[in-house]
Amino acid sequence: MTRTAATPAATARHGGTPFGVLPTGDTVHRFTLANGDVTMRVLDYGGIVQSLETPDRQGIRKDVVLGFDDLEGYLHRSPYFGALIGRYGNRIATGRFTLDGTTHTLAANNGPHALHGGLTGFDKVRWQVLDATDRSLVLRHVSRDGDEGYPGTLTATVTYTLTADNRWVIDYEATTDRATPVNLTQHTYWNLRGHGAEPVLQHELQLVADAFTPVDATLIPTGVLQPVAGTPFDFRTPQPIGARIDAAHEQLRHGSGYDHNFVLAGPGDAAGVRFAAQVREPATGRTLAMSTTEPGVQFYVGNFLDGRITGKGGAVYARHSGFCLEAQHFPDSPNQPAFPSTILRPGERRTSRTEYAFGVDTQQP
Ligand code: BGC
Repeated sequence: MTRTAATPAATARHGGTPFGVLPTGDTVHRFTLANGDVTMRVLDYGGIVQSLETPDRQGIRKDVVLGFDDLEGYLHRSPYFGALIGRYGNRIATGRFTLDGTTHTLAANNGPHALHGGLTGFDKVRWQVLDATDRSLVLRHVSRDGDEGYPGTLTATVTYTLTADNRWVIDYEATTDRATPVNLTQHTYWNLRGHGAEPVLQHELQLVADAFTPVDATLIPTGVLQPVAGTPFDFRTPQPIGARIDAAHEQLRHGSGYDHNFVLAGPGDAAGVRFAAQVREPATGRTLAMSTTEPGVQFYVGNFLDGRITGKGGAVYARHSGFCLEAQHFPDSPNQPAFPSTILRPGERRTSRTEYAFGVDTQQP
């Protein structure tokens, strides 16, 4: 990864502007990153992507991520809009796992389960800004031993970089002083017509996954890898997100739509980054491609949005008004010996990379 030296302006206050004040009295700053055709605004609180603008096929720029105009929205109403998730993205069943003979009890915040790191996950803390330029931001969070029930002091460093060829690259790094599960991800909700536009059901999705991890009624994986063939979960060729979302399929009932981890299948490049998904919005031509080193991706279509959240510019976020592609290890891995391990041990350095590439498809609808 190349890191551009901080500009003088960036060094003074890291280029951030005040965005709001936390109950602790700490000020949250917002950073603007721009490169190629993409401009994004990022908060040091939660590493939240508060806006991201890209042009459509006519060159009309829109903000394509759901979010809020002020900190208050993120503090009180946000279903993880735009945020970094940790220490463990997705669910851990009944908030318990056993590691090296010790059972750990986590904060339960999703019925009996632990979701997205607990009551105060990495989405709800102010990260240190290690470096900021006009196209990159380096954030660090040190999570203390016992935080939300997790063992070990975990140091997480996340770098956001915008490239000249319109990619948002996310580099994650984590180290610990005691063995602990780690599953860092990014929870941006996308609507490629522009946030606040109609639901994303017409967006076409291709997912390079031959299997997914079916769940019980509380969204905990059963442990099986189920082939997508012949099911509404088959996105190996592009399909409108909404085409089968209401099909009579038990798994869609469990998730109130798609809220499932897909098992990525494609070959990786030399760095282990593999093409995972591509989304195309037919009316505007905007496209989004995702590549990652992670073995899975949670595809979630804002099933639990219900119009009660009013976001940026007064936009009302109705059901399915955004989709998430959360690159990750599989849910509940600490309790699923057959899933790829998420356990990080002292002396190890966990790194992963996820990229979102923006483009336009010039073909008319
Ligand atoms: C999960 C959903 C959850 C949502 C919260 C997603 O990552 O898969 O089940 O409701 O986050 O916003």
